[in-house]
Amino acid sequence: MTLRSPRAQNSPPNLKFIETKTVPIDEAREVLASLTQDPPRLSPKYFYDSRGSELFEHITELPEYYLTRAEAEIFDLHLNDIAEALGSGDIIIEPGSGNCSKVQPLLERATPSAFVPIDIAGDFLWEAAATTALAHPDLSVTAIAADFTMDWNFTDKIPHGRRIVFYPGSTLGNFDPAAQRGFIQKLAKVVGAQGGILLGVDLHKESTVLQRAYDDAAGVTAAFNRNMLSVVNARTGSNFAPNSWQHQARYNTKLRRIEMELVAQSNQSVTIGGQTLAFAQGAVIRTEHSHKFTLENIRDLASAGGMTVTHHWLDRQSQFCLALLQTD
Ligand code: SAH
Ligand code: AVI
Repeated sequence: MTLRSPRAQNSPPNLKFIETKTVPIDEAREVLASLTQDPPRLSPKYFYDSRGSELFEHITELPEYYLTRAEAEIFDLHLNDIAEALGSGDIIIEPGSGNCSKVQPLLERATPSAFVPIDIAGDFLWEAAATTALAHPDLSVTAIAADFTMDWNFTDKIPHGRRIVFYPGSTLGNFDPAAQRGFIQKLAKVVGAQGGILLGVDLHKESTVLQRAYDDAAGVTAAFNRNMLSVVNARTGSNFAPNSWQHQARYNTKLRRIEMELVAQSNQSVTIGGQTLAFAQGAVIRTEHSHKFTLENIRDLASAGGMTVTHHWLDRQSQFCLALLQTD
C-alpha cells in the first residue's frame, strides 16, 4: 500500500477517524532508559513510521517469511468454519491492523456491522481504513490512531454490539510472556462476557526455518530493523547513524523466540535528550522479540484472561495457528 492522499481529503462517509489524545510521553527519556538496560533495548513500536509499515508489508511478501502466507492459507481452508464460529453482525476490532488486508475475508464472509482498526502508524492507518471503507460501503469503519499498549481510553468510541478482537500476524509474540498475558486480559475486558478473541500466532518449529524468516536474502528485514534508528532520530532528535549498525536475528530455542538485534559496526557515540551514550564496536541493541507458540501456550493465555480456546485452525504444514478464545 502506498500513501497517496492526505488524510482529511476524500474521507468516505462510512469512515470515522479518531486520533487519541494520550498524555505525551517523553520519548527521549523512554529511549534513554531502555538503552541503558542490560542488554540495551529499543521498543518494537519504533519500527512503525510510514516507511517501517511499508517495509513490513514487503517482509510479508518475502519467500522466507512464511507467516503471512500460512495465516492466509488458514483463511482459505477454513473460512466457512471461522465465519460460523464467529456468527454475524459483530463488531470486529483489530489492534495493529497495518494494511487491513488480513481482515478482508472476514469482512466479506462473516458480515460484521462495524470494523475498528487500531494502529500507531496514523497516516498508514488512515489510508488502509479509507480503502477498506470504500470497498465495504455498508460497513461502519471507526479507525483509531493509538498506541495499543497504553490505556484504551477510546473504548466508548467503539460501536455497540458483540465484540470480537481480531489479533492476527503473531503480533502478540512481540510482547514478552507476562505482557502477553496482560494484553489478553485487557482484550478480554474490552470484549466482555459475550465476546471473543480471534488470535493468530506463529508456532514453534525448526530454528533454521525461523532464522531465515527473520534474516532474508534480499535484506528487507535488515532495512526494517535499521529503519528503527531513523524513527528514533525523528522522534527524539537523537543522531544514530543507521548504516553503521548491522542486522542480526537468532532463534533462542530455550525461550522460543527470535531475538532481533542491531550490532555496532564501529565505535559510536549517540546523543539523545542531552545525554551522550557510547557504543563500542560490536555493541548490541535488542530491537525485537518474536515469540513462537505451542497450543498449550495458547490455552494458558486464554485461561489467564478467563477465556477458553473453543476452536483452532492450522495451515497444511501446521506452521501457524488461528485460535478463537471465548469468555467462559
Ligand atoms: N496485523 C497486520 C500488521 C502486523 S505489523 C498483519 O498481521 O500483517 C504490526 C502492526 O502493529 C503495525 O501496523 C504497527 O504499526 C502496529 N503496532 C505496533 N506496535 C503498536 C502499538 N504499540 N500500538 C498500536 N499499533 C502498533
Ligand atoms: C509484526 N510482527 C508480528 C512481526 C514478527 O514476525 O514478529 C514483525 C517482524 N519482525 C521482523 N520481521 C517481521
